[in-house]
Amino acid sequence: MGAVVVVGAQWGDEGKGKVVDIYARFADQVVRYAGGANAGHTLVVEGEQLIFHLMPSGALHQDTRCVLAQGTVVDPKVLIDEIQTLDARGLFAQERFLISERAFLVLPQHTLVDELRDRQAGALGTTKRGIGPAYEDKVARRGLRIGDLLSREKFERKLRANLDAWAPVVAALGGELPDVAQTVERYVKYGETLAPMIGNAADAVRRSLKQGERVLMEGAQGALLDIDSGTYPFVTSSSTVAGGACVGAGIGPTSISSVVGISKAYATRVGNGPFPTEMEGDAGDALREAGAEFGATTGRPRRCGWLDLPALRFAAQVSSFSGLALTKIDVLTGMKELQLCTGYELDGKRLDTPPYDDLDRVTPVYETMPGWDEPVSGCRRVEDLPENARAYITRIEEEIECPVWLVSVGPDREQTIVVREPFG
Ligand code: IMP
Repeated sequence: MGAVVVVGAQWGDEGKGKVVDIYARFADQVVRYAGGANAGHTLVVEGEQLIFHLMPSGALHQDTRCVLAQGTVVDPKVLIDEIQTLDARGLFAQERFLISERAFLVLPQHTLVDELRDRQAGALGTTKRGIGPAYEDKVARRGLRIGDLLSREKFERKLRANLDAWAPVVAALGGELPDVAQTVERYVKYGETLAPMIGNAADAVRRSLKQGERVLMEGAQGALLDIDSGTYPFVTSSSTVAGGACVGAGIGPTSISSVVGISKAYATRVGNGPFPTEMEGDAGDALREAGAEFGATTGRPRRCGWLDLPALRFAAQVSSFSGLALTKIDVLTGMKELQLCTGYELDGKRLDTPPYDDLDRVTPVYETMPGWDEPVSGCRRVEDLPENARAYITRIEEEIECPVWLVSVGPDREQTIVVREPFG
């Protein structure tokens, strides 16, 4: 059996945490393969809301092993806080967690530069978690990795060289570089805490696959925030698409058996950048309230809009979706009519997928569908859903040429319709 990859199909915040949590029940291993503490996965467990940024969502399942793979960028402080959150609930066991020695570190200079840059005109509106600068260091071949935490001498040497590289940038932004001695002290301590969990994660994933175990690859953010395929430059700095699971975990493409894309039944975006189906004014506010659309990491209100099928179709193509998980369909209950964006018009031409640039200039082409009033949160089979909700789902399947494998009808684990299990 190959790995199942779960990826966001929009601009992040699609409800991946809940879907991964459900699939993780069947998984032996859950692997977080990209991004860092910019992600925010909200899990509701027996009425309690837990937000994780780095911890793979499988963390709540006692029989599931969790891996933070080499494609991630790790802020050790955030990770240790999450470990403590789990520990306080009796949910943490060291032997279930593995952190790749190759994963890159998020350092104080990264968060500093991210914050300072985001105050400037025309900023991206990042999560200010140091993600962009950390990945910049990785690509510039001067980054520090998790394994470096285990040697004070190596860590300090690399840190000094790294700070030299950031010094002119920080000075130009009017900031002050972090203190070397303090940073070394803090990070070496983090290293001591994490040491028993640091190792060759890629090898563990490959062994697991070889033994026929069920491996779930957990994506972060969404396809439209992907560094290569997203709405550049308003993207994150990692590979958020399914292909990212290979490089991010250290496995080959033939090890993947299926890909599940996750999309809300409408669209949201946090941060700046084009969003063709955005609803302005009262309609957008109403959707934000109904869906409780506020960022899990930053608390920022999310921009809300109608479902954008050209963007979803593109996400399905880029990641070769086997199935779609459609979340938050309950939020649409009570709307008289629904608008479904099936294409765009740009300079007199019809487009089925987003252009490489100029997404801010497209005009969405909408199809109107009737809404439904019946509550859906109690539905456990597709047949139980109101007829108009079923028609809405069918229309999405037709337009993006991908079957729906899961429908989420409420925030709780139980409020889910599983049409098909990705692990078979
Ligand atoms: P960064 O990843 O913090 O550099 O932010 C770059 C862009 O990605 C910004 O528009 C963020 O709002 C967005 N972003 C990053 N992570 C997430 C996420 O987990 N959900 C939604 N948007 C995100």
